Amino acid sequence: MTSGFFITFEGGEGAGKSTQIERLARRMRAKKYEVLVTREPGGSPGAEAVRHVLLSGAAEPFGPKMEAILFAAARSDHVEQVIRPAVESGSIVLCDRFMDSSRVYQGITGGLDPDFMEALEAVAINGMVPDMTLIFDIDPAEGLKRAAARRGAGDSADRFEKETLAVHQRRREAFLAIAEAEPDRCIVIDASADPETVENVVTAAVFAVLERRMPVQRKQTAPA
Ligand code: TYD
Repeated sequence: MTSGFFITFEGGEGAGKSTQIERLARRMRAKKYEVLVTREPGGSPGAEAVRHVLLSGAAEPFGPKMEAILFAAARSDHVEQVIRPAVESGSIVLCDRFMDSSRVYQGITGGLDPDFMEALEAVAINGMVPDMTLIFDIDPAEGLKRAAARRGAGDSADRFEKETLAVHQRRREAFLAIAEAEPDRCIVIDASADPETVENVVTAAVFAVLERRMPVQRKQTAPA
């Protein structure tokens, strides 16, 4: 039985997910919700060990199937070690990327077989479907510009960010297609606006659902 709430943040590069997760976490903690912020690939010691292999491009020569399985292995560890225990203990988990990133990056732009991807997803998440997914939508040209600015001059783009604009466009469309196919779980957020506007939109969307699903008595109880 799950008593907490699991929210994932998805979208292309430079959409501002990490900034917005921090802002939402702050707003939730101010309302006395217990919040855990995490990210993928990574989020648990086992998954963090796999993260470098994936983002450095060390696994790229072995093909998208190898990468997809590594993402799934990392996700399985993250789910069982961190996400599920936190949600079961009543926390709100905010996760920067999750299964939709694999569907899009490995499945759609990696060209992997949909049945294979579906089976892999089922093993990786083992029933831990997000209660809510925010899809941050931005023109990839703008997103890549933001991501490059955030990185600064010295650092180069990672394995997935460095791909062509056409690939990033296909990813944007694939995320929007997921949102259309699963409207009960997904909300599309216009990430092109300034951070304050996006924060207000995110806060309103999340709290509208949260206040219904996690009423006050389920929140962290203040010490007597
Ligand atoms: P990261 O620097 O953590 O983040 P972000 O782009 O979210 O700011 O990079 C994660 C990269 O890994 C990103 O390019 C998307 C990619 N990725 C996948 O290809 N598949 C996945 O399942 C996940 C979780 C991420």
